[in-house]
Amino acid sequence: MHKRGSFGSRFGAIAAAAGSAIGLGNIWRYPYVVGENGGAAFILLYLLIVFLIGLPCLMSEFALGRFTRKNVFGAFRKLAPKKKWYLIGVLGIVTSFVILAFYSVVAGWTVAFLKDSLINEFSGLSAAAIGSNFDGFVASGWEPLLWTFLFCLITALIVMLGIENGIERYNKIMMPMLLAILLVLCINSFSLDGFKEGIAFLFRPDFSKITVDVALSALGQAFFSLSLGMGTMMTYGSYIRRQDNLLFTSSTVAIADLSIAILAGIAIFPAVFSFGIEPGSGPDLVFKTLPNIFGQMTGGYLLGILFFLLLVVAALTSSVSILEVLVAYCSEELNLSRKKSVIICATLAFGASVVCALSQMPDSSLKIAGQNIFDFLDTFSSSYLMPVGGFFIVIFTGWFFGKQRLHAELSSDGVYKVRYFNLFLFIVRYLAPIAIAFIFFSKIGIL
Ligand code: TRP
Repeated sequence: MHKRGSFGSRFGAIAAAAGSAIGLGNIWRYPYVVGENGGAAFILLYLLIVFLIGLPCLMSEFALGRFTRKNVFGAFRKLAPKKKWYLIGVLGIVTSFVILAFYSVVAGWTVAFLKDSLINEFSGLSAAAIGSNFDGFVASGWEPLLWTFLFCLITALIVMLGIENGIERYNKIMMPMLLAILLVLCINSFSLDGFKEGIAFLFRPDFSKITVDVALSALGQAFFSLSLGMGTMMTYGSYIRRQDNLLFTSSTVAIADLSIAILAGIAIFPAVFSFGIEPGSGPDLVFKTLPNIFGQMTGGYLLGILFFLLLVVAALTSSVSILEVLVAYCSEELNLSRKKSVIICATLAFGASVVCALSQMPDSSLKIAGQNIFDFLDTFSSSYLMPVGGFFIVIFTGWFFGKQRLHAELSSDGVYKVRYFNLFLFIVRYLAPIAIAFIFFSKIGIL
């Protein structure tokens, strides 16, 4: 057995879990998904899903992880020996691998943007020029790969250092800084021509826009943003100290994650409308919008550098948590050393990133179901793999983990009062699984 690490303090645990949750999902993915799904109505649905499905799922993962003190695969093996539940672990490992593959590519873009802001590449460019520069960058194939490689290397090094020395230390300072810069960008949004239009897009709901696809996107985005459904939060839960209050930890994480996303929306959309960018333009949205914002604002040069630096860090604290799922599995179940596990997992994931990045070249034949592999993996993992994982995790927590054990875990053996235990139980037993199943079956056309 390898000795397991653990978080040193309550704040450390929250910072690490929030660090996993807050990342490109909030600043890159949330705005583009909001844009594609028509804005305010989507956001309302998203809020509902975060609190009714996301938060209970997060609590379940923390509880199962802390109870078993194991990686996602080992946890289900321990909880339900000789049963098929370990397949959730297998699914989680596959999903982690898939996410890490495309996540590193986008993270690579942020590293490239950090470099570009340092050399003041964007200044004086029109919105159209910024857009076509980005297209050219992605189309070159090899250039994004260089930055992706660099990003994977740093992720691997941090994971190699281990929990306390690596993951925890970097989270504590950087997350509050990211929040501060986002606030500055939000204030700057007031001065843009597109402010009114952007705010209306974000806050004036048109409920006729809600369709099954919109609901599925909201569900997927909630899972993606909170790092749910594949054992990341179970693995982190296994490092949370017994005396910490899981309800407090998980709600802090959910609220922090949500706030960053909402702020990112306010920072981005007024600019989207000011610079004539199409809100539904997909994964490129933020990368084509942000340089314009920094280009026109006073102090934009320095602020841009700081912003992309923090974005890289936010991406790192998330990618580290994804890689940690794979590494915890390899080192605990396959008995490899931590170092060997990191090298093997990171290399495999980078290999998959290469495929994702190359699939974005305009004439690439790397396609699945008509989409390039990058887009396919992005939507498929969030809309299907994670909700399926989350579905079984809440079912297990509600029906198979045991009511007493669940109560003991959530209350830290009676130290904390679990005020809404019955409501929680109702959600994980009925509401969350039925809601997920409902969205799924409607999508497939059964309902
Ligand atoms: N939640 C992270 C983000 O918003 C990404 C992430 C990290 C993730 N770990 C995960 C997504 C596990 C799904 C599952 O950027």
